[in-house]
Amino acid sequence: MSIKFTNVSKEYKLGNSSFFALKNISFEAKEGEMVAILGPSGSGKSTLLNILGGLDRASKGEVIFNSQKISELSDKELTKYRRENVGFVFQFYNLIPNLTAYENVEVSAELNKESHSVNEILNAVGLSDKKNKFPQELSGGEQQRVSIARAIIKNPKLLLCDEPTGALDYVTSKEVLELLDKINQEYGTTIFIVTHNSAIASMCHRVIKLRGGEISSIKVNENRLSPKEVEW
Ligand SMILES: Nc1ncnc2c1ncn2[C@@H]1O[C@H](COP(=O)(O)OP(=O)(O)OP(=O)(O)O)[C@@H](O)[C@H]1O
Ligand SMILES: [Mg+2]
Repeated sequence: MSIKFTNVSKEYKLGNSSFFALKNISFEAKEGEMVAILGPSGSGKSTLLNILGGLDRASKGEVIFNSQKISELSDKELTKYRRENVGFVFQFYNLIPNLTAYENVEVSAELNKESHSVNEILNAVGLSDKKNKFPQELSGGEQQRVSIARAIIKNPKLLLCDEPTGALDYVTSKEVLELLDKINQEYGTTIFIVTHNSAIASMCHRVIKLRGGEISSIKVNENRLSPKEVEW
């Protein structure tokens, strides 16, 4: 499996003029990699992630996932691609407030053979003892663990995280990063992490930097750090 963007652009028309959120983005990533997307606010990080996850479409260019051309799929096919292959984690968790931790994960588990059980996944994220709590009874880090459990319950090939530690303190951020690293290793999940924090990049296999909608650098980390060694 691999991911390949070739000359991907995202254009927003504003009256007579247009604005490019992404300009000629080309890169490749391999199965099982952790990829960091770094860049200042407005540089196109979320736009890139959303196009890869099939939440948004490129205006131009080709996006390939596992020899499938995502950029050419119909809306229906794109929804199917997203359901079968992609898990999302956001900065502010997006949990359903009147459902327990268990139920929040359960709603995302469709009855399909590849799903883990809800209990197994809550155990993997270290929340077995909190499964009957509601989101407001959980800390930020615990809520993020629930949202990660929800994202991986269907065993997606791709886990896309947009600022997963953006709302968390240092210690809790490191716990979430350790969890993402564990998921990468145990399930072989390819993980993209959008972040402002360049320290997080040192635990990733590949680091893509964006600036003004363009790639400013791509670096492969030969010696990546474990999340425990990452400091900022
Ligand atoms: N629907 C839209 N219409 C017009 N412009 C948009 C739209 N969505 C995003 N943009 C613009 O595209 C650019 C890239 O946005 P994007 O959300 O990808 O940035 P980002 O790197 O994720 O920023 P942040 O770190 O603040 O989340 C921004 O300048 C944004 O204003
Ligand atoms: Mg963003």
